Amino acid sequence: MIYKKLLITILFLSFFGAYAQQRIPEVEQLLQKMTIEEKIGQLNLLTPGGGVATGEVVSKDVGTKIKSGQVGGLFGVAGPAKVRKAQELAVKESRLGIPLLIGSDVIHGYKTTYPIPLGLSSSWDMDLVKQAAQMAAREATADGINWNFSPMVDIARDPRWGRIAEGAGEDPYLGSKIAEAMVKGYQGNDLAASHTMLACVKHFALYGAVEAGRDYHSVDMSKIKMFNQYMQPYKAAIDAGAASVMSSFNDVDGVPATGNKWLLTDVLRDQWGFEGFVVSDYTSLNEMIPHGLGDLQAVSALALKAGLDMDMVGEGFLTTLKKSLDEGKVTEADITNACRRVLEAKYISGLLDDPYKYLDSKRPKKDILTDENRALARKLATRSFVLLKNHNNILPLEKKGKIALIGPLADSRENMLGTWAPTGDFNLAVTILEGFNNIASEATVHYAKGANISDDADFAKNVNSLGERIMIDERSPETMLQEAVDLAKTSDVVVAVVGEATEMSGESASRTDISIPESQKKLIRALVATGKPVALVLMSGRPLTIPEEFNMPVSIIQVWHPGVEAGNAIADVVFGDYNPSGKLTATWPVNVGQIPVYHSVKATGRPAPESGEFQKFRSNYLDATNAPLLPFGYGLSYSTFDYSNLKLNKKEINQGEEITATVTVTNTGNYDGEEVVQLYLRDVVRSITPPKRQLKGFQKIMLKKGERKEVAITLSPDDLKFYNAQLEFVSEPGEFEVFVGTNSNAELSETFTLK
Ligand code: BGC
Repeated sequence: MIYKKLLITILFLSFFGAYAQQRIPEVEQLLQKMTIEEKIGQLNLLTPGGGVATGEVVSKDVGTKIKSGQVGGLFGVAGPAKVRKAQELAVKESRLGIPLLIGSDVIHGYKTTYPIPLGLSSSWDMDLVKQAAQMAAREATADGINWNFSPMVDIARDPRWGRIAEGAGEDPYLGSKIAEAMVKGYQGNDLAASHTMLACVKHFALYGAVEAGRDYHSVDMSKIKMFNQYMQPYKAAIDAGAASVMSSFNDVDGVPATGNKWLLTDVLRDQWGFEGFVVSDYTSLNEMIPHGLGDLQAVSALALKAGLDMDMVGEGFLTTLKKSLDEGKVTEADITNACRRVLEAKYISGLLDDPYKYLDSKRPKKDILTDENRALARKLATRSFVLLKNHNNILPLEKKGKIALIGPLADSRENMLGTWAPTGDFNLAVTILEGFNNIASEATVHYAKGANISDDADFAKNVNSLGERIMIDERSPETMLQEAVDLAKTSDVVVAVVGEATEMSGESASRTDISIPESQKKLIRALVATGKPVALVLMSGRPLTIPEEFNMPVSIIQVWHPGVEAGNAIADVVFGDYNPSGKLTATWPVNVGQIPVYHSVKATGRPAPESGEFQKFRSNYLDATNAPLLPFGYGLSYSTFDYSNLKLNKKEINQGEEITATVTVTNTGNYDGEEVVQLYLRDVVRSITPPKRQLKGFQKIMLKKGERKEVAITLSPDDLKFYNAQLEFVSEPGEFEVFVGTNSNAELSETFTLK
């Protein structure tokens, strides 16, 4: 009965909420009973220190505060028993017994860690992305979590920024589809169900565009760029029903996001109809002080008035809002509105009905790290890998002979999960050495480390500041290198696992040089010099600059940080049990000087010659091409695919009409395999300068060896629209060019006219 009532309310809210602003009677009754202090208490999110402390933790007496009604939510607490303890403090010992939201950073799996989000996005498989999020929700809720600080949907076009690892890459169209799939995966159709959790879209907004790729830096961007390139994934997540939003650390148009009324109210609520609550990032409220916006009382009042509802960790709201109310700087209605939104979230997640609903002590064993979940993590990892190059078809390897498995990441359990996996346990991860032995038992696999991840002690110290992820060996680099070369010389084939340690990407892990560290470069050079066939398994949380390695006679497969099943998944692909199908979701530059480099660039008034040759007085470089090393959407297969016969079903369409492109794709190689068919669009003439091409559709298909399929991709009227100079979302009459193919350089093209 209660369930039914909840469902009806939720349906009502989601369908009519934006217009009717329905009040929930249970929440209104609660608000009537609350003192102003209790309302302010609901706006306070604390951690007793169990999460990753990325800022200064202020609160020491969390328990006392919960009892006195000064806490609305907690994070960094997990497990039915521990959460129950915290929840009981709130429910049994605070005056009104309001339960807590229990948050967590479940970024790429809860305990069953799957690939880092940038890797997952490379699968271009929305169904799998949703399944991944569903699994994460089932595991996290089994451990008492009801609110997830994910998805992170920040568009990132600067691989120096370490947090590019946490998102879906550079493209707003793909990013929006992924945002939607993740929100639906976490939240399901019923937020009150015991296996779904509230999503929190972050980091609103533009965090991925920090200047120079330096984390927490400023952002300054035109509104046209903002709305056409950066805002769409946030909006897609809101449209998909995301229950909460996290404000970002950076400023937007000169005002920190956490206190930015235009962003949090005018755009988010008034334009997009968002009805959930907004939480700050870790102490981002307090950080408005060094940003230069005033003292704690001033910035707290500013943020509340701007539309921030919950203060993560900083206690600016808790300690200053009452004073601001007394001094007339905020109103009671400001506080009540924020409190209402937090309580509504508790209502829709079913907590007001049953505060202990996520606390079934039998569930962790039943739902967490099951064989089924590990199998899904392994599948997700295989789908995330991108084959960058396959010299002499070295890959896939045969499961026989003597294999030299070399490199500092080949037997490094610590580095398999990747960044932002605080709920995972790297001790459970399968190393590549183990994976090879599991899958290729008829082969003999010999291992040598060959090099340190980096020999630069200062760099290693910075990387290690959060843990021990770069191990500098006691042996000299020369000894390690010699051992590896000797092994390579006596083996049939060499697989070198190289790249970045976990802590080299992610939060606060920006790099100005994104190449493979010199210690490992030396190793690769020495291995190639042996003349043996060499396959590089490249691990990283970002696009790297690898022109030297790319020009060597080697095969290269990019595996990101694959998660708990890393070794098995890598072996599945290296030995051909799965044919790689991943495609890059962020462009790989030739060098750092090209950054930002992305596929949807504009033509400019002085375009560089198509040939790529330098020409004076054109928009190009003296010392590098404009073309990146590897374009967006790029990725090979053990098979080959041929594209032909691109057709549009109409030559002319009216405003509001759809148009469909069809293309024939043939598997012309020797393996069954999957291919991501991609459609790009150019709006040839319009009132603001158009990008040369933009992704507007894709489809992942499976083709047996020799098989041929006709693939149809339909463009909706919205796919032809953009935000004009007045920020209206419009399409303008004129010619459009459609490109379809295997990556963003797709060559087949057709044109149509919008009347
Ligand atoms: C990160 C967020 C994260 C929060 C809580 C911050 O430093 O920017 O993404 O959700 O910490 O752990």
